[in-house]
Amino acid sequence: MARILTGIQSSGLPHLGNLLGAIQPAIELSKNPENESFLFIADLHSLTTLKNGADREFYVRSMAATWLAFGFDTDKNVFWRQSRVQEHAELSWYLSCFTPFPMLANATSFKDKSEKLADVNAGLFTYPVLMAADILLYDANIIPVGKDQKQHLEMARDIASRFNQLAGEDLLILPEARIDEKMMTIPGIDGQKMSKSYNNYINIFLPEKELKSVIKKIISDSTPLESPKDPDSDITFKIYSLLASDSEIETMRQNYLNGGYGYGHAKQALFEIILEKYAEPRRLFNYYMENNDELEAILTSGEEKARVIARQTISKVRRVLGFGA
Ligand code: ADP
Ligand code: TRP
Repeated sequence: MARILTGIQSSGLPHLGNLLGAIQPAIELSKNPENESFLFIADLHSLTTLKNGADREFYVRSMAATWLAFGFDTDKNVFWRQSRVQEHAELSWYLSCFTPFPMLANATSFKDKSEKLADVNAGLFTYPVLMAADILLYDANIIPVGKDQKQHLEMARDIASRFNQLAGEDLLILPEARIDEKMMTIPGIDGQKMSKSYNNYINIFLPEKELKSVIKKIISDSTPLESPKDPDSDITFKIYSLLASDSEIETMRQNYLNGGYGYGHAKQALFEIILEKYAEPRRLFNYYMENNDELEAILTSGEEKARVIARQTISKVRRVLGFGA
């Protein structure tokens, strides 16, 4: 049985790119009876960039509601908030003393972020150590992540090996990254990668009117309604293709090529397919957002399960380090 673990930051609202690129594939993987999935909301990580507590709480709730809305089975798997299992922070400190300074200084994601962000704090710098702790605490084997996290996984392996060397045994399990190279980058309404940082995202949980107005903002060229259009260079068509069936895609392609079909028509079709395809997740998302006690109970019970495993690892690590189990 493979133990699959992944964390997702809660620093903004989940969008269509997160859903298609990360959340839906992780849920598919978790359905395999051979796998055991550990999924957590990386709220401690979000503190590196997001300082407002009320915002964090809201994003954590939205993220949790999203996973549940898409059918993540929390009885079979483990689902928790990172900050509620204090062993993450504890192990992170121990591991930081096994992490060479130059390894962190060379991290590309730190270099990128420190150029872009005004607040370059030490948490941003030691972020990969906390990430290693998240993984090593649970003896996880496979870590599905985006390409940008590849180096962080290499660091986690390196840190685990250094610790094991001291321990004289394979106490920490070396994790493997699972990176889907085929996973395409979902475009946002401006054609760049959909991302919360570019404010170009589609939040599929918006009320109908607001969802429609976001879709209307998708950039298109000025080809008149009557003229034929090139489907392959159009953003609305690209997003529609990610959701529609082969025959629906083919019909829209023909409509573009024939002319007499405007971008407004295509946007209306995209709006309708989002409502149709995501009807049940939209209903469930609202349900969990309105029934906070139920959401809280699910997370709390996941946290109890996570804590049992985390404590076992911490106790072995403390023993090796002479802190007493
Ligand atoms: P954002 O760019 O909005 O800040 P994150 O970096 O928090 O998103 O990404 C969370 C997960 O969602 C990652 O695994 C990432 O690979 C996936 N993801 C985010 N945006 C996209 C996108 N436009 N296309 C495909 N996957 C995406
Ligand atoms: N750093 C990851 C990201 O930004 C989120 C994350 C935190 C994570 N801890 C993790 C992913 C552990 C996998 C395993 O996407």
